[in-house]
Amino acid sequence: MKKIYSVKDIGNIKGRYVLLRTDFNVPIKNNKVVDTFRIDAALPTISFLVKKGARVVLLSHLGDGTESLAPVVWYMKKKFPQILHTEDVVGESVISDVESMKNGDVLLLGNVRKEIGETENNKVFALALAGLADIYVNDAFAVSHRKHASVTLLPKLLPAYAGLQLMSEITHLQKVTQNPKTPLVAILSGAKFNTKLPLIKEYLKKADHIIVAGALLNSLLKVRGYEVGKSLVDDGSVDLSKILKSKKLILPEDVTVEDKEGKSRAVAISQVLSNDTIVDIAPNFITDIAPLIQKAKTIVWNGPLGKYEDGYDKATKLLLKTVASSKAYSVIGGGDTVALVSKMKLEKSFGFVSTGGGATIDFLATGTLPGIKALER
Ligand code: 3PG
Repeated sequence: MKKIYSVKDIGNIKGRYVLLRTDFNVPIKNNKVVDTFRIDAALPTISFLVKKGARVVLLSHLGDGTESLAPVVWYMKKKFPQILHTEDVVGESVISDVESMKNGDVLLLGNVRKEIGETENNKVFALALAGLADIYVNDAFAVSHRKHASVTLLPKLLPAYAGLQLMSEITHLQKVTQNPKTPLVAILSGAKFNTKLPLIKEYLKKADHIIVAGALLNSLLKVRGYEVGKSLVDDGSVDLSKILKSKKLILPEDVTVEDKEGKSRAVAISQVLSNDTIVDIAPNFITDIAPLIQKAKTIVWNGPLGKYEDGYDKATKLLLKTVASSKAYSVIGGGDTVALVSKMKLEKSFGFVSTGGGATIDFLATGTLPGIKALER
């Protein structure tokens, strides 16, 4: 059977060059990292390699490739004062920077997404990156759903291992994808309908109850014949009638809407007006489902329940507290939900908080990711 080897399996790495793919795609404001969760999650692997005397070359993307990773370096300096940074990704200057590294040094390369070869999964580009190191390590779970050169090609060109965070993501998420303890409650929400569809289909089979919110809920209400006003809905290309027939599906009976003057109010789903926008689930729904949450043995949750970016986070916060107080093994994923978890200092109250957004959705739906498969041997 094929296996994934972790950094702990490498053996002697003293003096060897390790190209470590991390996901430092973090929110930055005024040149400062505003949520350090993903960077913090990568620190144990970097420390492990540094302590073993490896020369650690870090590689990450940020946004669409136009931004600099310099704010990440300033944050990491607290932990690794020796860290160096170049804005280049490949080329002569990078080769010379890498050649002057000593054992235990850390160098963060430039934003890998500015190189077209990265997203085009180009072999020539991957070979240029591979030439910088002896060993490749993937600790970037959050980007492992992308077939990009640094994720799926590099492990074919160098001896490849998984970092500690990637191993932890796999172990914890497998508790949900492989023989989860039941009752299993899935809470699926968020703005992007189509990306969540495979997850809904999978959990219609696996879960005992599915709670739906966000654009998913709006679309289902619309198909059921309710007025959804100006709410975000899907493009209608998917037939949702089968999903609506499932007895596992739990739809809230009350929602919070915003009218065209920007005033919000809680209404029954049958009372939404044509000029309203559904912006959140009404908090009393969370009280209604609390007994289900308390009885659950496994809970998986992806995406905030309301328009979090516009301040509609009441239902999400209430549900986070409810899930945090349950005895179930709970897995939380998705950037915005995780940001709220950090803000509420609830990180330790869940079974596992995933660093992924789209990657977590894809893993939960399929049980693996292209970047993980590429590490198997
Ligand atoms: C994420 O933020 O989900 C990952 O960093 C992947 O980023 P991407 O969606 O831009 O590929």
